[in-house]
Amino acid sequence: MPPLNDRADTAGQAALAGADPSAAAGAVHDLDRLILLGLAADLHRRTRLERGTRLGRGAAREADAIAGDHGGAHEADAIAGDLRAAPRHRWIAGHWLAALHEAGLVSRNAAGRYHDLHAPRRAELAAARTRVEAARLALGYPAELSELMLRSLRLLPSLLRDEVGVQALLYPDGEPATAEAVYRGNLISRYLNAAAAEVLTDLAERAVRPLRILELGAGIGATTADLLPVLTGRPVEFYLFTDLSPFFLDTARRRFDAGFLRYALLDIAHDLPRRPGELDLVVAATMAHNAPHAGRLLGQVAASLAPGGRVLLIETVREHPQSLTTMPFALSTQDGPPRRLDGRAGSTRTYLCREEWLSALEGSGLRIEVDLPRPGDPLTALSQRLLVATR
Ligand SMILES: C[S@@+](CC[C@H](N)C(=O)[O-])C[C@H]1O[C@@H](n2cnc3c(N)ncnc32)[C@H](O)[C@@H]1O
Repeated sequence: MPPLNDRADTAGQAALAGADPSAAAGAVHDLDRLILLGLAADLHRRTRLERGTRLGRGAAREADAIAGDHGGAHEADAIAGDLRAAPRHRWIAGHWLAALHEAGLVSRNAAGRYHDLHAPRRAELAAARTRVEAARLALGYPAELSELMLRSLRLLPSLLRDEVGVQALLYPDGEPATAEAVYRGNLISRYLNAAAAEVLTDLAERAVRPLRILELGAGIGATTADLLPVLTGRPVEFYLFTDLSPFFLDTARRRFDAGFLRYALLDIAHDLPRRPGELDLVVAATMAHNAPHAGRLLGQVAASLAPGGRVLLIETVREHPQSLTTMPFALSTQDGPPRRLDGRAGSTRTYLCREEWLSALEGSGLRIEVDLPRPGDPLTALSQRLLVATR
């Protein structure tokens, strides 16, 4: 790996300020477990998946025949019906069942139908809830994170029926503290944002003209807030802060005051504005997975970079059970599941894995310069990475 990788890693480690990430893997497991057990309990309470355990075999078979089910195994769509999911959220039942199956909490037959859902006992759920407090402390999350997880479990029926939107969970009373807890301040965000700032420092030190920077899906500006201080007192032509939603542009206008900041609505599901060879840096922090085709997005980003320009991605590279009760609701479109045209097509995956991102970056003619955290670093358990590639 090039020296920039070391430099960024050193900056990231310094930002941990002595915190010990060695418990990260266990803590991630505990957060994931709470959501998986909570989901299993909810499906057990509210769907036909519990029927096999409550009715006798004959009665279950009879009821299955009426419902069009097969041998006590049920299609995900029938479960969505039991949950009275809004049409655009119906796909989420299948997404959850796939995750529960992967965790060994429900069985799936050769025809893709589900049966034998694990029914968590009260004590098991209580123990999972207790462990979450220790887990979030180990990962440096404020109390808002566990509150968000518990609230999302409580509100599952209303979320699925589309009576409560995920924005109300992430921005209670319009305040960003909960979203900040998820995207900033915790161990992995501190590490990744500090490493990202070091990449920008390196770029600024080499610049031969005022910098032109584009940030995609900048949201609450959790990464922006760590990048802007690097630019203080340096020549910058523009830092174009963009997002799909005007809400975030308005919030950022109130929050940041650098004279070189510009704001624009930009949806990466459509083609990016053509800026051939113009940009020095494109930032996409925990947002590039929203592109229907990741390789296509990176191809357009690469074409917009000046020689020596960089793309900086912060990405989740594993399906995280801990976000199953929030993320899918943010992804649902008016027509249902998000459109996926790359390796995720036809699957329930939200994220690309590390290897897929590396190959998409290289496939766009970019050279990988940063790929962090390093193998063996306990932070890898959090499955969020900084990937930087240069034209
Ligand atoms: C997980 S948040 C990350 C926000 C920000 N990068 C940060 O670190 O604070 C994802 C952001 O991507 C934005 N987003 C989602 N889909 C998008 C799209 N198709 N085009 C542009 N932005 C999008 C959302 O509005 C949201 O602000």
